[in-house]
Amino acid sequence: MIALNHILKFITKDGKEVIIRPAGKEDKDRLVEMYLNFNPEDRCLGLPPISKPAIEAWVEFILESGFSIVAECDGKIVGHVAVIPAGDGTGELCIFILREYQNRGIGQKLMEEIIKMSMERGMRGIFLTTSRCNVRAIHVFKKMGFRVVDSCYDYEMYLPLKEKKIC
Ligand SMILES: CC(C)(COP(=O)(O)OP(=O)(O)OC[C@H]1O[C@@H](n2cnc3c(N)ncnc32)[C@H](O)[C@@H]1OP(=O)(O)O)[C@@H](O)C(=O)NCCC(=O)NCCS
Repeated sequence: MIALNHILKFITKDGKEVIIRPAGKEDKDRLVEMYLNFNPEDRCLGLPPISKPAIEAWVEFILESGFSIVAECDGKIVGHVAVIPAGDGTGELCIFILREYQNRGIGQKLMEEIIKMSMERGMRGIFLTTSRCNVRAIHVFKKMGFRVVDSCYDYEMYLPLKEKKIC
């Protein structure tokens, strides 16, 4: 792993080089492109949206209201994680990896980096909602330290950050 001012490079389990870096408003078009190519079967709880105008509005909202990290591979954005602050020191997380790039360690790397970024910003916790059928996502979230706090319908998960160490 090489650290380059918040830009990281890592090699996936199958030998592909991936760049992990913070994203900003200038990435809007490339993020929209990623979500236009997102396999609808991998949507979770209605996200990402499907039509281009809805994707554009959603990506714009995320980039304006929260902070994001993207994974780039083969010259395009293939993964995106974001935290939207809720105004009480916590924030809501969403993460999506294009199907052809799933299961290569990219999701876990993005999770590690967004957790560090959230801590650097002084946040006290991150929450998320996922489908109870989304076993891979739940595995990844638990591995990162998230715990299920409500399982009445979907899974509400929470990661307290105060006691975590940045490494
Ligand atoms: C969930 C998601 C973000 C994970 O990212 P990813 O890059 O595929 O995940 P990684 O490769 O980093 O890790 C996958 C882990 O899940 C495990 N896994 C794979 N399939 C699994 C399954 N069916 N059940 C349980 N664990 C599974 C892998 O073994 C690996 O764990 P390990 O490192 O302990 O062996 C990604 O798959 C994705 O975008 N899915 C569709 C959208 C989605 O569900 N987003 C979350 C919405 S809340």
